[in-house]
Amino acid sequence: MAKRDRIEKQSWKPGNVLSPTPPVLVSCGGTGGWKPNMITIAWAGNVCSDPPMLSISVRPERYSHEIIRATREFVVNVPSAGQAWAVDWCGVVSGRDEDKFAGAGLTPAPALKLRPPIVLECPLNIECRVQKSLELGSHTMFVAEVVAVQVSADLMDGKGRFRLEKCGLLAFAHGQYFVLGRRIGRFGYSIRKRRR
Ligand SMILES: Cc1cc2nc3c(=O)[nH]c(=O)nc-3n(C[C@H](O)[C@H](O)[C@H](O)COP(=O)(O)O)c2cc1C
Repeated sequence: MAKRDRIEKQSWKPGNVLSPTPPVLVSCGGTGGWKPNMITIAWAGNVCSDPPMLSISVRPERYSHEIIRATREFVVNVPSAGQAWAVDWCGVVSGRDEDKFAGAGLTPAPALKLRPPIVLECPLNIECRVQKSLELGSHTMFVAEVVAVQVSADLMDGKGRFRLEKCGLLAFAHGQYFVLGRRIGRFGYSIRKRRR
């Protein structure tokens, strides 16, 4: 029997099973009377390269939704394993009740172009200005242009390459957090000639 004949499938009801996704800390506020806040978002992704754009999907009941709808600015902070506890905590408490920067022990620092703070400890900070808000149902998708990027300089190697993988990147899959592991190839390796 061929191997593929032994692969059995089950049918599940439609749901949000796409995994893994990046759990990011989205900072917002710090302007217009809104105090700085952070929300954990797992439903984030790149959506366009020219202009550079990404999206985050946020439920309207979140405090951060109010802030982002009013200010139209946010920063996507990509965390490392060192911020895993904060990622979870910022995803289970609300900025309506807590100062999340203080509670998570993280540092708000100035963004380059926008008013919300970046999260200093996160190795990659992506400043975003909202271009479109799509009311999809349970979530609003904020589609935003990337207007500035900051990276932690200690992750640059001697050849000027940004080695983000060195910091222990997080992945979120089916309700659990993982740290990315072994590198098994690089873009295009499937068509590159094998070294003898
Ligand atoms: C790992 C993780 C991923 C999450 N992803 C999302 C998301 O993509 N969209 C969303 O609206 N809420 C998401 N949440 C829930 C919010 O982060 C959570 O409700 C948070 O307390 C809202 O904070 P706020 O009220 O200060 O805005 C996630 C929570 C966790 C722990």
